[in-house]
Order: sequence, then structure tokens, then C-alpha cells
Amino acid sequence: MPAISESSAGAADVAVENDYDSFAEGYAAETETNLINGYYARPAVVDLAGDVTGRKMLDAGCGSGPIFEALRDRGAIVTGFDASAKMVELARHRLGADAALLVADIGSPLPFSDGAFDDVIASLVLHYLEDWTAPLAELRRVLKPGGRLIMSVNHPLVFKLLHRDADYFATVKHSDEYTFNGQKAVLTYWHRPLHAMTDAFAMAGFRTTVISEPPPAPGARELFPDALAKSSSGAFLSFLFFVLEAV
Ligand SMILES: C[S@@+](CC[C@H](N)C(=O)[O-])C[C@H]1O[C@@H](n2cnc3c(N)ncnc32)[C@H](O)[C@@H]1O
Repeated sequence: MPAISESSAGAADVAVENDYDSFAEGYAAETETNLINGYYARPAVVDLAGDVTGRKMLDAGCGSGPIFEALRDRGAIVTGFDASAKMVELARHRLGADAALLVADIGSPLPFSDGAFDDVIASLVLHYLEDWTAPLAELRRVLKPGGRLIMSVNHPLVFKLLHRDADYFATVKHSDEYTFNGQKAVLTYWHRPLHAMTDAFAMAGFRTTVISEPPPAPGARELFPDALAKSSSGAFLSFLFFVLEAV
């Protein structure tokens, strides 16, 4: 399977904080209908959620709100938050004045009561954090028992494929430079091996029920024939998806 990452333009020399405010419009525009977000990461999460009619859902790190919108369209009652005020502003524009949106950090206590949600979505956000202990505990707290955390992160194997000399088994900070619709960005991630993820889930009170490496959404092959040419199934390495049950 080939590996595909988010419009990567090479490794950055200097690690800079993930300042989504500074490239929010570019990120939102570029990823709306691109392969790895529009036709892969987002539909995969929405598919994993299944029938969400009437479910109370929290979209943690909601960005400009595309997953929030898809879940709401499917009948869920959605609340979203993001650390970037600019991203929340874009989400507000997309979702309307009545949408439940706030600026909050997934690494801090969240302003929701215990057991407030049936499901939490955390799409492509936890890989920015070194320590998952507090955020996973907080997401577990706001879920009902039996509720689901549906999440995605950078596939840990991609780090090893791109950085051949790196230690797959270490928790390692690394940065990449991107251009999102003409706006330069540096994203700084924390790689960790797969077992460190599943250990953290168990420690926080989650049972791993699904680990998914899905193909892209229908229509992707026709729209992105060159990118998908080498894969017989259409699947490629980029992100890893989990469904976890709050026990
Ligand atoms: C790659 S984007 C994904 C957006 C959206 N979840 C999606 O899949 O389209 C990552 C988002 O996580 C947000 N983010 C990064 N660190 C965060 C944190 N500590 N707490 C909350 N949001 C965070 C960023 O501002 C950005 O909007």
C-alpha cells in the first residue's frame, strides 16, 4: 500500500506550535474535497459512527465543522469545540448561529457534565498531544457508559516509512511543512507506537472494539486516479481509525 500524507512538502527544521488560526481558511478550503480528508478521513469516521439518529455527539477538534455537519444531517444532536477560534468561526459560518460550538482545548477540563454524550468524535486531533492521559480521561468522563469514542490519528507506520532511521517504539515529536490552498503551515505531531495507543485507551477506561484501515469513499478512484493507481483495493496508509467503547 502506498503512503499518503496531508499535502506534505517535507520535514520542517523548526518545530512551531500548531497555529491553526494562522492557516484556518487555507486548511478548510484545501481539505473540503481533497482525497485524504474529503474522500477518506471524514467519510471513514462518519461511516464508523453508523446510524446516529437522535444521538448526542461531541465533535472534539471540530475544525471548520464538516463532520459536525455530516452527523447533524444524519439526525445527530451535535456539539463541537476546537482550540482555534478561527476554526470555530469558520464552523459557525458553515453551521449557523444556532449550532452548539465553543473554543476549548482537548487537553483541559471540558465544560460538559459527566455522561453528557452518547458518542465523541476526535478526528485527527489527538496526534498533536504528547500525553493522552488527561484528554482521554476527560473524553471518557463526558461519555455515557457504553458510549463510543470514534477517533482517527496519523497511522504510526507512516512515521516509520517517512523517517527510516526513527525509533518506531518511542514517543517522538516531529514536524512537517504544508501549503494549504497557498497558506504555509507547520504541523507538529507526536508519533507513538500502536501499543502505546491501545494501552492509553485501556488505562482511560475504553475497550477497543474496532481498528480500521478503510479504503477511500466511493468516487475517489475516478477523482484521484493517479494517487490511487498503485493500490489494488484502493486502500492506502495515512490514518488509523478506532472505535472505543466506554466501559
Ligand atoms: C487536522 S484538523 C481536523 C479537523 C476536523 N476534526 C476534521 O477532521 O475535519 C485538527 C483540528 O484540531 C484542532 N486542535 C488541535 N489541537 C487541539 C487541542 N489541543 N484542542 C482542541 N482542538 C485542537 C485544530 O485547531 C484543528 O481544527
